[in-house]
Amino acid sequence: MTGGLMVPLSGQSQSAGQDQFQLINGNTVDLSEIINLFDFEKMAEGKMPKMAFEYVASGAADEFTVRWNRQALDAIKLNPNVLNDVSKLDTSVTLFGHKLPYPILVAPTAFHKIMHPEGELATARGASKAEAIYVVSSFTTTPLEEIKKVATEPFWFQLYVRDDKEFTKNLVQKAEELGCRALCITVDTPVGGARDRQARVNFKLPDGINAPYRIGESLSITWKEMEWLISFAKVPVLLKGILHPDDADKAIEIGASGIIVSNHSGRNLDTVPATIEVLPRIVERVNKRIPILMDGGIRRGTDVLKAIALGANAVLVGKPICFGLASGGAEGVTKTLEILRAEFEMAMALTGRATIASIDQSLIWK
Ligand SMILES: Cc1cc2nc3c(=O)[nH]c(=O)nc-3n(C[C@H](O)[C@H](O)[C@H](O)COP(=O)(O)O)c2cc1C
Repeated sequence: MTGGLMVPLSGQSQSAGQDQFQLINGNTVDLSEIINLFDFEKMAEGKMPKMAFEYVASGAADEFTVRWNRQALDAIKLNPNVLNDVSKLDTSVTLFGHKLPYPILVAPTAFHKIMHPEGELATARGASKAEAIYVVSSFTTTPLEEIKKVATEPFWFQLYVRDDKEFTKNLVQKAEELGCRALCITVDTPVGGARDRQARVNFKLPDGINAPYRIGESLSITWKEMEWLISFAKVPVLLKGILHPDDADKAIEIGASGIIVSNHSGRNLDTVPATIEVLPRIVERVNKRIPILMDGGIRRGTDVLKAIALGANAVLVGKPICFGLASGGAEGVTKTLEILRAEFEMAMALTGRATIASIDQSLIWK
C-alpha cells in the first residue's frame, strides 16, 4: 500500500521512545501508547484542566446528537470486494482547484490556547506536517498573521459574522490577503446551544487568553447577509452547517461554492440527526453541482470511507484534533491525522477500492 504515511497498527514495531517529543517548555510527551483516536481523548482528559476538557468534549443539552453522530456511523456496515488491485492507492482529491493528498481536513475549533500553550500555532504546524488543510476558527486565540507564518500547507478561514459589518468585511479581506484559500461561513449558530456541561463548569476564557476576532456580538445572519458576503469574497465560500436539502439549494442559488453538512458536533441544536444520516439527502439534491464536505463523529478510517461512499467529497474532524493538540501539541495533531489517514488507506485496500472515485454506494451493505 502506498500513497500515505503509515502509522504502525500497534506500538511493537516502533523502537521505544520514537514517539517522544520535546515540547518548548522542556517537558517530553510520550505518544507511543496512542493507537487510535479514542486513545487521544483519554490522554487529553488526564492532561487538560476540567474546564477546557468540558468545553471540548461536551455537546448541547442531553447530547443525543453527539451520540447519534457516532452510533449512525457505527451502524453502517461495509460490503467489500476482493481481488481488486490495491497495491497502489490514490487517496487524493481536488477541491476548488487544490489537490489534497487525502480527503480529511482540520475542522475549525475555537480557543486552542486553552487546550495547549502553543495554541493554534501547534495546530497549524501539526496539520501542515500531516499535509492537511487547517480551517482556522474565527475564534482563534492566535492572530492569523502568526498562523500564516508557521503554516506550510494552505489554510482556510471559518467566519462567524459579527454585528459590525465593516469589521467582518475587513476580517475576510485580511484572511484573503494572508492567503486563505476558502471561506467557511458558519450558518448554524444564530445563537449558542444549551451548553449545560459548559455552564456547570462556568466556562470562560482564562485571563491572558483572548480571541482577537471575537469583537462585538454575533450577527444573526440571513440569506441577505450571505449574498452580501459572497458578493465581495474573492475565494470560494462554503456554507457550514447545512442540514436541509432546501437550504443546500438556496446556497447554490446565491452562489456558494460548497457546503459543509454539519451539526456542529451536536453542540448547538440537540436531537438533530447524525450528519451521516442527513448526507444522502443533501447529496441527492445537490446532484454534483458543488462539492459537499461533512463532519460530525468521524473517528475511524472506515467513517471517512462511509462518508465518501455516501457522497461527501471530503470530511473534517474537530474534537479529535483538539484532543491530539491537548495531548501532544503539534505532534499530537499530526499523529491524529496520520492515524486517520492510515486507517482510511487500510479501509480502502480492504474493501477493494484503489481510488476515491471507486468509493461509491455499492460499498454500503443494504
Ligand atoms: C471545541 C470545539 C470548538 C468548535 N468551535 C467551532 C468554531 O469556532 N467555529 C465553527 O464553525 N465550528 C466550531 N466547532 C464545530 C466544528 O467545526 C465541527 O463542525 C465539529 O467539531 C465536527 O464534529 P467532530 O468534533 O465530531 O469531529 C467546534 C467544535 C468543537 C468540538
